[in-house]
Amino acid sequence: MSVSLIFSGMQPTGNLHLGNYLGALKNWVKLQSQAKCIYCVVDLHAITMPQDPKELRSATREVAAAYLAAGIDADKHILFNQSRVRAHSELAWIFNCVARIGWLNRMTQFKDKAGKNRENALVGLYAYPVLMAADILLYHANGVPVGEDQKQHVELTRDIAQAFNSMFGVEHFPLPEPMILGEATRVMSLRDGTKKMSKSDASDYARINLTDDADTIALKIQKAKTDPHPLPDDVKGLEDRPEADNLLTIYAALADITTAEALGRFAGKTFSEFKKALVELAVSVLGPINAEMRRLKADPGHVDAVLRRGGERATEIAEPILKKTQDIVGFLKD
Ligand code: TYM
Repeated sequence: MSVSLIFSGMQPTGNLHLGNYLGALKNWVKLQSQAKCIYCVVDLHAITMPQDPKELRSATREVAAAYLAAGIDADKHILFNQSRVRAHSELAWIFNCVARIGWLNRMTQFKDKAGKNRENALVGLYAYPVLMAADILLYHANGVPVGEDQKQHVELTRDIAQAFNSMFGVEHFPLPEPMILGEATRVMSLRDGTKKMSKSDASDYARINLTDDADTIALKIQKAKTDPHPLPDDVKGLEDRPEADNLLTIYAALADITTAEALGRFAGKTFSEFKKALVELAVSVLGPINAEMRRLKADPGHVDAVLRRGGERATEIAEPILKKTQDIVGFLKD
């Protein structure tokens, strides 16, 4: 299936990190030449975990600034924050009446985030994937570029689309494809190669934030966990060496080459030689993004205007699709 409309989003909760960049944002930038793209700052999703209102506002601007700084073209494509377009919440309610409790019970992200105290988790956290399905289907998007961890949610979106279509005997919603692209679909923690790099890790040394300056990036890479052996000759030699595998994958993704090609450059070398090259590469890729984010931070009026205009353009696409959906369901509208 050829992808004609792309939708994706990130939560404005805490700092964006290298995993968000390599697993998603970098691919989003590339996809702009292949399809119409709608990129969203998902503030409705953010409040599925309690947020401080002031920090939420500032994180929403910061994520939008990261999109722009990485190269999202908000004139050719659409960039907005989710809560501006009411249709997301309205369609999510309809989907709450399509999705099954059994489907949501299988979602691994809910299990991870709710932890042991499930009874105390917010209802919104449980229904999170249903809102995500609404985000995508509200625009009839058929391509969803995400990191590996979101694949299950996109598959649930397909199930919801299919269930809606068959419940009402229509061919209204397309079945969107997850697009899991590039070398670094699951970037791991710098402190433990078996754990995902995440915003919620207690140690800031576990991740590289897009707001980190060159010295901080260098320090974090120097301190990254490794093993005592030199780098292997081929990819097979990375098996059972999660930290080496992760750092090589990060290098490959930053350099836009395969992990095998990256190994070709460093086979037999020590970690200290490799880390020097990795610092240089990471700083050269992330430095300009970081500088542009700082510039945009000083100009919140510009970011707000981009989001406002994006919200208006998103509403124009969403409203007719929501109206049609409401009509199919049987709601009286004039
Ligand atoms: P969020 O904010 O958790 O993550 C944003 C994107 O970053 C990717 N990602 C990673 N990729 C590789 N390695 C990692 N360590 C890593 N950590 C995060 C995620 O896969 C994601 O692509 N539910 C979504 C937000 C969302 C959404 C949507 C996405 C809401 N509505 C509709 C697509 C379409 C999320 O949790 O993003």
